[in-house]
Amino acid sequence: MADLDGVKDSKEFHTGVPQQAADFFLKGSSHYDWGLKNRLSRIFDPQSGNTVMLAFDHGYFQGPTTGLERIDLSIVPLIPWADTLMLTRGVLRSLIPPASRPSIVLRASGGPSILKELSNEEIALDIEDAVRLNAAALAVQVFVGGEHETKSIHNLTRLVDQGLRYGIATLAVTAVGKDMVRDAKYFRLATRICAELGAQYVKTYYVEEGFETVTSCCPVPIVIAGGKKLPELDALTMAYNAIQRGANGGDMGRNIFQSDAPIAMLQAVRAIVHGGETAARAFEMYNTLKNEA
Ligand code: 5RP
Repeated sequence: MADLDGVKDSKEFHTGVPQQAADFFLKGSSHYDWGLKNRLSRIFDPQSGNTVMLAFDHGYFQGPTTGLERIDLSIVPLIPWADTLMLTRGVLRSLIPPASRPSIVLRASGGPSILKELSNEEIALDIEDAVRLNAAALAVQVFVGGEHETKSIHNLTRLVDQGLRYGIATLAVTAVGKDMVRDAKYFRLATRICAELGAQYVKTYYVEEGFETVTSCCPVPIVIAGGKKLPELDALTMAYNAIQRGANGGDMGRNIFQSDAPIAMLQAVRAIVHGGETAARAFEMYNTLKNEA
């Protein structure tokens, strides 16, 4: 029976308390719709504002890269320590347990293999499939200065349009051609173009000189790529420096799954990205966890 007392005029209406509009924690993202903000909050931790993404989509153009020959054995055990998994829909469907907690960033561009001109990519995913797979974001390669620059930028803008229709974010990945200089000037240009054209966040490489100028003039969050495998202390130092200079996290692959102790490495990166630890303390943590395993 309905609780008739409940409709009595005795509620706390708090007429003297103005309703607060909750601000959104993420750089440049305050004016998005609810669904997009919610998805971004599953990538970026609202507490720290940062993310630890685990990238293992390399197979989409490289085939079975070292460390990714058996994703069921090398990557699935790492899932609980990642905020977000960045992968292809093929691997998601075939190997990743659907009960996994991390949010999903799907590789949405592709076409050429390492045997061809890499910038010649197309969109390689229908937005409906991204919705079906509960993707939080779609990742697209952008080749500023590359042979197929315009086409890759068009891929980005089409994905942004499709993503906005459903509240799914677009991650622009700045891909640097072999003959290009990887410096702050180039990354300022590439990341800013991606943000101006609508990417909700941008992945780029860390550079020692002037990285803070890249993050400061990009109006949306930047996450760093790990790049080639480095000694663990060097990779942790890069992560620490990137966070100190304005990055909102990392999307690391080889420096995690090619490490001697990938779970320990992922935990050490988390300590830097979410816990504000120094590289030296995170490296100590890595060694302790590695020896315990
Ligand atoms: C391909 C990608 C990869 O997912 C990512 O950059 C690889 O990560 P890492 O460089 O850390 O191995 O975006 O271009």
